[in-house]
Amino acid sequence: MLSLTLTSPATTRRLGRVLAGLLEPPCLVTIEGDLGTGKTTLVREILRARGVRGAVTSPSFTLAQSYRGSGGVVLHHLDLYRLSRGADADLFAWDDYLGGGAITFVEWPAAGSEALPPADVRLLLRHRTVRSREAEVHAAEALEACVAEALRKLGMAVERPAGERR
Ligand SMILES: Nc1ncnc2c1ncn2[C@@H]1O[C@H](COP(=O)(O)OP(=O)(O)OP(=O)(O)O)[C@@H](O)[C@H]1O
Ligand SMILES: [Mg+2]
Repeated sequence: MLSLTLTSPATTRRLGRVLAGLLEPPCLVTIEGDLGTGKTTLVREILRARGVRGAVTSPSFTLAQSYRGSGGVVLHHLDLYRLSRGADADLFAWDDYLGGGAITFVEWPAAGSEALPPADVRLLLRHRTVRSREAEVHAAEALEACVAEALRKLGMAVERPAGERR
């Protein structure tokens, strides 16, 4: 686990660019956090950095949006805030958005917890002040190390709890 403070939307976007450079398809990324913690801000920047052009809107009503980035990589952006567990979740076309060489981002993953496989990257965002957020990045050891190194190179302070360092 990595933890860091995101002191502005620009810092959140910087984390997005770092992640964008390190995610390899197929890959599932979940983003948890209360309303307004910057989940869409983060995903939008990752999509842009992966070459998605044009508008990237929050799929809060459509539940899912799909894009094609550079190199033809398919990127899906899901927002499950309005999906209810049970019937709704059972009817959702999960298979259209998972695997198949795509990178899939899921905001509010809880409603899909029974259908979603374990995430390759779990991002947790929390409110700290009006402008700042706390972020946690949970991923495989090697990926976490690369993310930490890239963030430090950009001058961002990253904490790695002692018990987690190997
Ligand atoms: N450090 C920060 N990182 C990200 N956004 C921030 C930060 N500080 C302030 N903000 C503001 O908080 C808002 C975050 O909105 P965003 O839609 O990205 O959040 P969200 O977590 O996707 O919300 P929702 O749960 O409604 O989908 C934006 O208006 C943004 O400018
Ligand atoms: Mg959002």
